[in-house]
Amino acid sequence: MTTLAPVETLLDTDRGNTLPMPPELAMIYGKLQFPPHEGRPYVIGNFVETLDGVTSLNVPGQSGGSEISGGSQQDRMLMGLLRSASDAAIVGAGTLRAVPHHLWTGEYIFPPLAEAYRDFRKLLGKAGLPLNVIVSGSGALDPRLPVFTSGDISTLIVTNSQGLQEIHKLSLPSSSVQVESVTSSKNISARAILLAVNRIHQSELVLVEGGPRLIGYFLAEGLLDELFLTLAPQVAGRDDTHQRPALVEGTVFAPEHSLWSRLVSVKRADDHLFLRYAFDLERQSGNQ
Ligand SMILES: NC(=O)c1ccc[n+]([C@@H]2O[C@H](COP(=O)([O-])OP(=O)(O)OC[C@H]3O[C@@H](n4cnc5c(N)ncnc54)[C@H](OP(=O)(O)O)[C@@H]3O)[C@@H](O)[C@H]2O)c1
Repeated sequence: MTTLAPVETLLDTDRGNTLPMPPELAMIYGKLQFPPHEGRPYVIGNFVETLDGVTSLNVPGQSGGSEISGGSQQDRMLMGLLRSASDAAIVGAGTLRAVPHHLWTGEYIFPPLAEAYRDFRKLLGKAGLPLNVIVSGSGALDPRLPVFTSGDISTLIVTNSQGLQEIHKLSLPSSSVQVESVTSSKNISARAILLAVNRIHQSELVLVEGGPRLIGYFLAEGLLDELFLTLAPQVAGRDDTHQRPALVEGTVFAPEHSLWSRLVSVKRADDHLFLRYAFDLERQSGNQ
């Protein structure tokens, strides 16, 4: 049990099917709905950014999400909720390098609700923990990290043929880590990542937790259904010696390929806003 204060719902449009949820989670977050999505996984992103759009301070040892969110308990609660609702949680190797000891589970990010997250997955009929997926083109990964060695989770590395050669040199535990090489080119398409995930673990809901480079691929290929975006009430700033990533890096949309979204939910905890945007994929150009 936790004494976490519920988030306040300011806007919540109907998103379709309501997920069954343990009462404790429902009381804190309210209902969680996703539209029907026949024959394909529904893909959501989850990020936190500052008022000036910074997603990482890019300072050694202080490049994680908690420096952006100020350690907001409700943000951690939401991260745990979305991880627990998902079949797979995908991150790029850059994110793993920034938070090397992380596991992409609800229990890890917000232990006070560990039991409620487990109950949530049971209600959803999801066995075990979400598949953790690491996307790496270089294959430069540390095989000693908990995401590969904890034994608690199954992990999939999605890579290319060059990355695979490097990964073959690592001693990764074959019982919990699988590797899929999906292309011979340096850059791996979001479509190929999703297909690999689905091959290993048939997925209803897939969570992309970034980082800024990886999410650019999903947006560019029209494969992100929704973005859950936490707006933290701090200004981080930037200058020539402090380059700080925004939500998307490495991909350009506007003005030639402007990418608009619809605000479908607004929740609040103190001075943090929890926003939810839908991309209406069928209306976007480059639709898959
Ligand atoms: N505020 C937030 O919500 C949030 C969320 C996530 C991350 N972050 C922060 O973002 C920073 C990392 O940024 P980032 O842009 O480097 O993150 P990233 O997208 O996680 O990592 C980029 C790396 O991932 C691999 N990668 C990603 N997409 C790929 C693709 N389509 N094809 C081939 N390889 C791909 C490559 O790895 P290789 O180098 O192995 O080729 C690439 O160098 C960290 O400080 C992290 O804490 C913030």
